[in-house]
Amino acid sequence: MKVVMVNGSRRENGCTHTALTEIAKVLQENGIETEEYFIGERAMNGQMNEAVKQVADAMKTADGFIVGSPVYYASPSGEVIAFLDRLFGAAETDLRFKPGACITSARRGGTTATLDVLNKYFLYNQMPLVSSRYWNMVHGSNPEEVRKDEEGMQIMQTLGTNMAWILKSIEAGKQAGVEQPQAKQKVFTNFIR
Ligand SMILES: Cc1cc2nc3c(=O)[nH]c(=O)nc-3n(C[C@H](O)[C@H](O)[C@H](O)COP(=O)(O)O)c2cc1C
Repeated sequence: MKVVMVNGSRRENGCTHTALTEIAKVLQENGIETEEYFIGERAMNGQMNEAVKQVADAMKTADGFIVGSPVYYASPSGEVIAFLDRLFGAAETDLRFKPGACITSARRGGTTATLDVLNKYFLYNQMPLVSSRYWNMVHGSNPEEVRKDEEGMQIMQTLGTNMAWILKSIEAGKQAGVEQPQAKQKVFTNFIR
């Protein structure tokens, strides 16, 4: 089994990566492979298609999806929003029904607003949301500070444990003959009668 992770920060090895790494450790202890994709400036410098294709291809064989973003002005990074807007169009069917989670990193404030925005991508696309023991956030301005956020680190570990449990439960269900729901043709009314 494999979980694809997206790091939506401008800093490849910053706080968001530190939090994602903590989740990845627990998933790997549970025998689940992880791949982290750094979007960075590719979302803004004309290489968006390449970044989207890379993650969309990875999702074809992935079982779960996690997205991480720093808080920028009390919202997710512009980079991650631009990326997800494209990814959820390009890989909608390969994301659908796969468990998902989002996490955020902030110096101080804007975390829950950021999580609200990120959660909506999963909710739109019939993806079971995986939760932890609090909102999925860490605090710090650099990886060292994030590692000192003991509560944040535990939230990431618990998220990893819960994601592993859900993935194994879905796999056990498949083996027992529980079938994935069939996606229906969407009705779009645009509020017009
Ligand atoms: C453009 C920008 C805007 C930011 N806005 C906020 C903010 O609104 N609230 C906050 O707590 N931290 C804010 N920060 C700090 C980062 O969210 C925080 O340091 C985060 O942990 C960085 O994660 P990273 O190392 O993965 O990029 C901002 C940082 C930048 C660069």
